[in-house]
Amino acid sequence: MADSPAKRAAWLRWQIKKHNYRYYNLNDPIISDSDYDELFRELQRIEVRHPELLTADSPTQTVGAPADQLFEPVTHQLPMLSLDNAQSEEEFRRFDKRVCETLECDVAEYSAEPKFDGLAITLIYQNGSLTTAATRGDGIEGENVTLNAHEISSIPQFLNAKKNPALLEVRGEIFMGRSDFEQLNKSIEQQQRKLFANPRNAAAGSLRNKDPKVVAERRLSFYCYGLGLCEGFTQPTSHTETLAKLKKLGLPVCPEVQAVRGFEGCIDFYNGLANKRTKLEYEIDGVVYKLNRIAEQGVLGMRSRAPRWAIAYKFPAHERTTKIIAVEFQVGRTGALTPVARLEPVTVGGAVVSNATLHNMDEIKRKDVRVGDTVFVRRAGDVIPQVVKVVKEKRPRNTKVIVPPNHCPICGGEVLLQEGESVIRCMETLTCEAQRREVIRHFVSRTAMDIEGLGEKLIDQLIDANLVKNVADIYKLKQQDVAELERMGEKSAQNVLAAIAQSCKPSLERFIYALGIREVGEVSARSLAKHFGSLEKLMVADQEALCAVGDIGAITAQWIYAFFHDDRNQAVISELTRNGVIPQPAQRVQLSDELAGQTYVITGTLTKSRDQIKQLLEQRGAKVSSSVSKKTTAVIVGKDPGSKYQTAKDLDVALLDEPQLYQKLGMEK
Ligand code: IVH
Repeated sequence: MADSPAKRAAWLRWQIKKHNYRYYNLNDPIISDSDYDELFRELQRIEVRHPELLTADSPTQTVGAPADQLFEPVTHQLPMLSLDNAQSEEEFRRFDKRVCETLECDVAEYSAEPKFDGLAITLIYQNGSLTTAATRGDGIEGENVTLNAHEISSIPQFLNAKKNPALLEVRGEIFMGRSDFEQLNKSIEQQQRKLFANPRNAAAGSLRNKDPKVVAERRLSFYCYGLGLCEGFTQPTSHTETLAKLKKLGLPVCPEVQAVRGFEGCIDFYNGLANKRTKLEYEIDGVVYKLNRIAEQGVLGMRSRAPRWAIAYKFPAHERTTKIIAVEFQVGRTGALTPVARLEPVTVGGAVVSNATLHNMDEIKRKDVRVGDTVFVRRAGDVIPQVVKVVKEKRPRNTKVIVPPNHCPICGGEVLLQEGESVIRCMETLTCEAQRREVIRHFVSRTAMDIEGLGEKLIDQLIDANLVKNVADIYKLKQQDVAELERMGEKSAQNVLAAIAQSCKPSLERFIYALGIREVGEVSARSLAKHFGSLEKLMVADQEALCAVGDIGAITAQWIYAFFHDDRNQAVISELTRNGVIPQPAQRVQLSDELAGQTYVITGTLTKSRDQIKQLLEQRGAKVSSSVSKKTTAVIVGKDPGSKYQTAKDLDVALLDEPQLYQKLGMEK
């Protein structure tokens, strides 16, 4: 049986007050704005139908939430009101109609301005100096945040006027810009502390921080949008002129604010701002329309909670709550496995969302996301929907912890999670279908196998026609297969096949680079080729041997090792050789024998890699040794040399710094 209106109203009041406290005092809401608005409107409807149920302390009659004991209380001389909301064009039309009827006019003039998604603040300037700053609280009493306001650079500490008003109370919004928010969360992430779910919570959490030093670091912004109590200040006759006057005094005013005429003008402004919404540097959740002429505002008057002369016409919510039904892992073109949450579909920002990215395992751990959880999902513009935070209060008992897969969901191959990395990767680089296009494109590219004529379009055609599944298949192609493809002919097919044939004897370094091993670029590939001299030796090298190569660090060594110890990668490499691709062993070309019979030892960090220096010496007939003896010709000493430097000095062996070495080799550097 449905609840009686009285019971339902009492429940709604209790719920809304609870959510007000979480939103305004804890800066950690557990329902989305639109779900909150639904509760609020349901209560409003009951109270309209049953006026006897209306209480003075109902959230529909009051503002925000009582201030915390965290800061000194400040009583507002003029109450800080809230705004009524319109959720649809129809609701906005009703507002405009009521305004016109009351004013007995056809077209009303409004100040149209963004509804900033931050928190309200009031600033009291006495004789031009900022003396008090306070939050809105319950509209009657707020929190004294003056010390914090002194740390916000967009709030002027002094007004810019020859003759200052005795008292000027300026009201506006504190918010955090998108990039400042991203930066803040990045640094919080590095410190492994709890992230802010959105810029609004970050702004509120920062302004209401007890330490003004923290506020100074947080880069909060401020736009003013109205006045409180004033003395010795002549207010212009319109709201937009008032804002212009405040701007002259040095107070920041949003450049989007505009005077508009009538319903049509309001809708044009709304559509224009909605299109700009995601491009603005700050978040907004709608448009605020205020009757522009101050005298007309007086005609409409106020209610206890909000003025009758203004309304907030909200944009479709871009943050909603929903449930995670499953988590799947998607394999990207580079083999990275990205966890994706499958959601109970919800409309977010005007589109139905049923998937959201969870980025990586670190993110899942940090946010403690589980299957079955209720989560906030956010979608801003065209970007992929994101899971912002979990509503722990709504976590059921039977949630499932998300476990990373042991195998690639596309090819079933091995996956690797590098130590210190948060991304899991499929190691079947050469055979995994998800990576196929990218791997083949890289393999044939100019700096790799350099197969001219085998461009992206042709690769796509070859893959789609099932003629090429992996890089080894390229060398099995027949002229006829290629010629039959769309936009190809005998001649072009012949050219492509000739280019393929020509690529059969790549240098070892090009071949290593072409394999697309993670972290192995052209320079590392060259070092590996020089160091090992042959593909066979490289393929059997353990991680220690790989780390001994100048340019190769422990992480790259792990990728290389995993790559060559993968059965399927090995199979493709042997197929390549069977198909006639024979990497040419790295040749240690000797340019001269000017240093024949000499032995050098290298210690410390040099501007060139050890491998490069070794090569320079060997090309001139010298030997490079790892230990110093009396027979050592010279020790080349770089930055922070090791014990070899001391041994050289003890044994009286000659020392060369880097410039001396290059001079000896007849090089400029
Ligand atoms: S005027 C008497 N203008 O919205 C009217 N408020 O829901 C008082 N807000 O507490 C507010 N942008 O924090 C006004 N351009 C704007 C606003 C704005 C955001 C916030 C403000 C206020 C809340 C009311």
